[in-house]
Amino acid sequence: MSIKLAVIPVAGRGTRLIPLTKSLPKEMLPVGRKPVVQYVVEELNRCGLERLLFITGPTKIAIENYFDLDTELIDHLRQTGKEELLEELAFEKADLQYFYTRQRRQLGLGHAILCAESFIGQESFVVALGDTILGVHSKSRIVERMIAEFEAREADAVIAFEEVPRRDVSRYGIASPVTLENPEVFPLADIVEKPSPEEAPSCLAVASRYVFRPEIFSYLKVTRPGKNGEIQLTDAIAAMLADGKKVYGVRVAASEHRFDIGNFQSYFNAFLEFAMTDPDYGKGVREKLEELSQRLSSDENL
Ligand code: UTP
Repeated sequence: MSIKLAVIPVAGRGTRLIPLTKSLPKEMLPVGRKPVVQYVVEELNRCGLERLLFITGPTKIAIENYFDLDTELIDHLRQTGKEELLEELAFEKADLQYFYTRQRRQLGLGHAILCAESFIGQESFVVALGDTILGVHSKSRIVERMIAEFEAREADAVIAFEEVPRRDVSRYGIASPVTLENPEVFPLADIVEKPSPEEAPSCLAVASRYVFRPEIFSYLKVTRPGKNGEIQLTDAIAAMLADGKKVYGVRVAASEHRFDIGNFQSYFNAFLEFAMTDPDYGKGVREKLEELSQRLSSDENL
């Protein structure tokens, strides 16, 4: 596969998770045993990406520290006879190169991607949101499938989509497919940001992974700020489609369900599912949950 570069935007302030995100990046919140962004990096590594550019902000320095090789900790584990824990740090040695640049003002996801322009040059690239895990324990290989479709169809962009209940469409960018003849890979006619359930052209919601050619930058540059003064990536994609560019959707499989760590409800749900399916601790967590559910169901104050 020719695409080796991924952009991971992690600069958002995460206001929906205040106070947690006051000084802690939401991408560093633990889901089960690992921080969110580690799952994203492992997924990209598995899909053949080799160079990762993080778009960061002032409160995100913990992410850079996390992916550094921590030789002091490794020595300490060796000297104290805790070699078995070295396995937990194996991700530090993955064959990946890490790069970081700052989004100096939080002007939205589209603007965050624009910050990658001079680094990208003429290469096509993946965008993976740093606050979203695909699949329990991030087993998804959708990015690999997206790159394969991007190349085979000589597409201008490929976007991951997940089917959501119609009542939830107003939270997402929604696909308007030309046809769903092949429901797994489909051409797009349009993409609509946060439509009402009545107006939504489908229930296929953007699922945080994209493949682009560098021409996306020329669209982002002329995208006018929308809600909250933010430059929306969806608007730039809609402009590409209006220009007749070839944009395809690839459907996320049920096993690749999106865990969006952007609000407390979805964060709690994700943590619970990862803890319940942990190979070592899952059984204990499930037993505890059952006991708690029974105890709490008789509590009239809840
Ligand atoms: P969100 O839409 O969840 O926005 O970002 P947010 O600012 O992080 O969170 P809220 O709405 O204040 O709670 C989706 C992804 O885009 C990145 C985020 O870090 C996240 O990975 N992002 C968002 C940026 O990099 N820069 C931005 O200006 C906005």
